[in-house]
Amino acid sequence: MSDAPNALSSPTIRLAARTDFERLAALQLASWRDAYFEALPASYLEQQAPHDISEHWRQIDLEKTQVLMAEQGADAAGFIVFDCQEPAFIDNLHVAPGNRGGGIGRRLMAAAAARMQDAGVRQAFLWAFANNHDSLQFYERLGAELETVEDYPVFSVLVPSAKMVWSDVAMLAGERVPL
Ligand SMILES: CC(C)(COP(=O)(O)OP(=O)(O)OC[C@H]1O[C@@H](n2cnc3c(N)ncnc32)[C@H](O)[C@@H]1OP(=O)(O)O)[C@@H](O)C(=O)NCCC(=O)NCCS
Repeated sequence: MSDAPNALSSPTIRLAARTDFERLAALQLASWRDAYFEALPASYLEQQAPHDISEHWRQIDLEKTQVLMAEQGADAAGFIVFDCQEPAFIDNLHVAPGNRGGGIGRRLMAAAAARMQDAGVRQAFLWAFANNHDSLQFYERLGAELETVEDYPVFSVLVPSAKMVWSDVAMLAGERVPL
């Protein structure tokens, strides 16, 4: 008998609690350093980003914001942060570098969209870096349309960003995560 590799089991999607935030912040930092090295200055990623990301997680108000996470065994494999206003704002979506391309991003989006639908929300949007072609193709694959490209603040850095919009989150909704 061999140990079953984590990669072969399907990740669980669940609501994250504040006690999960420290490792989700660590996942976000690793994802930024892997995926955003062209979009953000290296000095910012190295020196300031750890503080900004930690502070951002510390300020999340779970009365207004929902966080779903994917867990593969004991490891955090991804997360999505969003609200259920109309239109819903998706603040953050990251899959750990070693877990990308396996459907976790799609499942997180579907689970978030299902919760938006349950709250009566119809539309959703997010901002993605305009030069992050992988994520733009991912969002287009999931039915989003480009609305505009503008400079968008990422903490202290202004980055040309694409506003991606879903006119109906029903096109995304799938997996439902119980409270
Ligand atoms: C973007 C990201 C969230 C996507 O998550 P993922 O788990 O890698 O994507 P999935 O495996 O769920 O892919 C879902 C679908 O999008 C497609 N897709 C993913 N990346 C793609 C790409 N670069 N080009 C075209 N299609 C792509 C997949 O083929 C898949 O389609 P299918 O289900 O019809 O086969 C993830 O790669 C990530 O965290 N990237 C770095 C951080 C980032 O850019 N986050 C977004 C911030 S706005």
